[in-house]
Amino acid sequence: MQLRIVLARTQHLCHNAGQELLYGGPHVKTVVFSGVQPTGLIHLGNYLGAIRNWVRLQYQYESYYCVVDYHAITSAYEPSHLPERVLEAVAANVAAGLDPEQAVIFVQSQVPEHTELCWILNAVTPVGELQRMTQYKDKARRRATVSAGLLNYPILQAADILLYKGTLVPVGEDQAQHLELTREIARKFNATYGETFPEPEVLLGDCPRVMALNDPAVKMSKSIPGSYVALTDEPEAIREAIARAVTDVGPRPDGTMSPGVANLFDILEAFSPVETVERMRQAYAEGALRYADLKRVLAEDLVEALAPIRRRYRELMARPDAVRDIARQGAARAREVARTTLAEVRQKVGIITL
Ligand code: AMP
Ligand code: TRP
Repeated sequence: MQLRIVLARTQHLCHNAGQELLYGGPHVKTVVFSGVQPTGLIHLGNYLGAIRNWVRLQYQYESYYCVVDYHAITSAYEPSHLPERVLEAVAANVAAGLDPEQAVIFVQSQVPEHTELCWILNAVTPVGELQRMTQYKDKARRRATVSAGLLNYPILQAADILLYKGTLVPVGEDQAQHLELTREIARKFNATYGETFPEPEVLLGDCPRVMALNDPAVKMSKSIPGSYVALTDEPEAIREAIARAVTDVGPRPDGTMSPGVANLFDILEAFSPVETVERMRQAYAEGALRYADLKRVLAEDLVEALAPIRRRYRELMARPDAVRDIARQGAARAREVARTTLAEVRQKVGIITL
């Protein structure tokens, strides 16, 4: 497995006798934390940017994976659909390879300590830093009124991670800035109240920024129809999305690969056999590659590679009680840790015990 550490204080990255990677120095145990919003289906960007790493890491480290429903209510959503979206997100993650025996899989709202720690961290977070966040600026620009929840979104994210004293956070590139802020919040808390939280490192996936199929200038996103292939899409939907992908938007004078084609190659590399990738690259280099062929091969390899995920997802969604059980048991395990951290935090902050 190749682990790529970004923003890393790599001097703190060391190997112990058991060949285990340790972050934050030999005395800090590695705790992995990450989250996904229940805002629709999980797509190739989520998978290649983050979830594939989650699946790998769960076998090595204490791992927490959270469906963040309190984050989701800071953007437009349909309340009557949210519970179903949450169950779908849990099921899709399990179908993609998260194992409830290996990792703690849970739903944010079921562990109230997240919002409680969030409030306490509010008190050490500079508003100026929140206003600088790219995701906030992007979303705020498109709205008539901006809620405090949208602004404070990264504080809740910091609370998610720090509640478990997370040291390693596997995410896509768009989350790197939020992680920088999490580190700053941890530093500020520690400086004010005494050493409490490790500063978590970011771990980017093999494809940290998968681009939209229908507009390779922006990232693949659940909120852009036609931009993505969902992990659980039926074969016809996969073929159609890939067939419609934007490739060349005109000749490129410098002869470089256009972003749309590069994106298709990134996806091909993740899902197709090495020989296929080499054959396609060779054809491209010789100027003999027909994009229709590239798309056809990619679509068929995707259909095949995603088949087991699709099947497991259907099986799980046919047994919603089993999905609920996974999330319930995950929350019970998460809460034990969350309670302990919060007791320590409350005591340090001077919250009365009666
Ligand atoms: P979200 O769906 O926004 O909750 O994102 C869940 C995870 O997927 C986060 O770690 C994101 O950074 C990652 N992610 C989302 N979109 C992409 C993308 N287009 N490329 C790579 N990673 C992504
Ligand atoms: N903000 C993240 C996203 O949109 C989701 C998230 C919430 C998260 N809490 C987190 C990711 C904690 C990593 C760690 O993708």
